[in-house]
Amino acid sequence: MKPAITVLGTGRMGSALVHALLKAGHRTVVWNRTLEKATPLAAAGAVVAPSVQEAVEAAEIIIVNVTDYPATAALLRGDVATALRGKLVVELTSGTPHGARDVGKWAAAHGVSYLDGAIMATPDFIGTEHGTILVSGPRRAFDRNEDMFRALGGNIQHVGEDLGLANAQDSALLALMWGALFGALQSIAVCRAERIDLGELARQWTATAPVVEGLVADLIKRTAAGRLAADDETLSSLSPHYSAFQHLVELMEVRKLDRTVVDGYDAIFRRAIAAGHLHDDFAALSQFMGKAG
Ligand SMILES: NC(=O)c1ccc[n+]([C@@H]2O[C@H](COP(=O)([O-])OP(=O)(O)OC[C@H]3O[C@@H](n4cnc5c(N)ncnc54)[C@H](OP(=O)(O)O)[C@@H]3O)[C@@H](O)[C@H]2O)c1
Repeated sequence: MKPAITVLGTGRMGSALVHALLKAGHRTVVWNRTLEKATPLAAAGAVVAPSVQEAVEAAEIIIVNVTDYPATAALLRGDVATALRGKLVVELTSGTPHGARDVGKWAAAHGVSYLDGAIMATPDFIGTEHGTILVSGPRRAFDRNEDMFRALGGNIQHVGEDLGLANAQDSALLALMWGALFGALQSIAVCRAERIDLGELARQWTATAPVVEGLVADLIKRTAAGRLAADDETLSSLSPHYSAFQHLVELMEVRKLDRTVVDGYDAIFRRAIAAGHLHDDFAALSQFMGKAG
């Protein structure tokens, strides 16, 4: 028989987690600070607990999905912490690596097993084969509950024993995502200023995306190998990138567009060029994105 699971927090993501657990056949107990938001889940088969304490007492595995770690900490204290002794807490709230390691220390001091996860998906991906969740912490606790995790997302991965690793990878991947999203906002601003239809932008992006994907993969590979100088396989050195970048900046100046995003790019380009990397591979910029100062 599948284990009962408690889910604390039934916002957009928590509700998706609950539906996936119910679909996989887990008895699922839910608690939410605003009770009305949890009640629709009863119609889907969940048991709505009136307090955190009762929710925690109803299962051996407790998934937490609230806004942030301070909210989690406020929920899991006092009598609730006592009720958690010997149970497994799976924190799926987004947080920092050090935040997860701190919760790990708290859990160890209270006799609680702890896994920390980072959800790399929107709620519509939860319970599907493409739902990605990264989990860090004790491998044995993960392996014992792999079926439950697989119900939440087909692409579930244990990324290491260090509790901070899932959140660290989350932040690294989000940095990549925001690069693309802020780039898209910049692109939209240019299109609007130049009266380019956004449908046209969408069509051109579909054609250009594979080129960008290839450049990102190449950048990661070359940086990992330390191949920062230009060589026979260099796709593009800094020089043509910086020239093309000047065209963008000039267009933006003429159209009086906000420069906040491109000023950041410019500062990094300039530091690298001043250090003599104009004719090196674009990967040379990686040296200017590490520790500040
Ligand atoms: N949505 C996504 O696409 C997505 C993707 C990846 C990761 N995540 C992560 O999943 C977590 C939840 O996100 P969400 O999209 O579900 O947000 P949401 O819809 O805003 O829900 C937030 C949940 O946290 C609860 N909450 C907030 N502060 C609380 C407190 N002090 N004490 C108790 N409960 C508290 C809310 O309770 P009330 O209903 O009472 O306000 C609600 O259940 C976040 O850490 C988010 O980063 C979300």
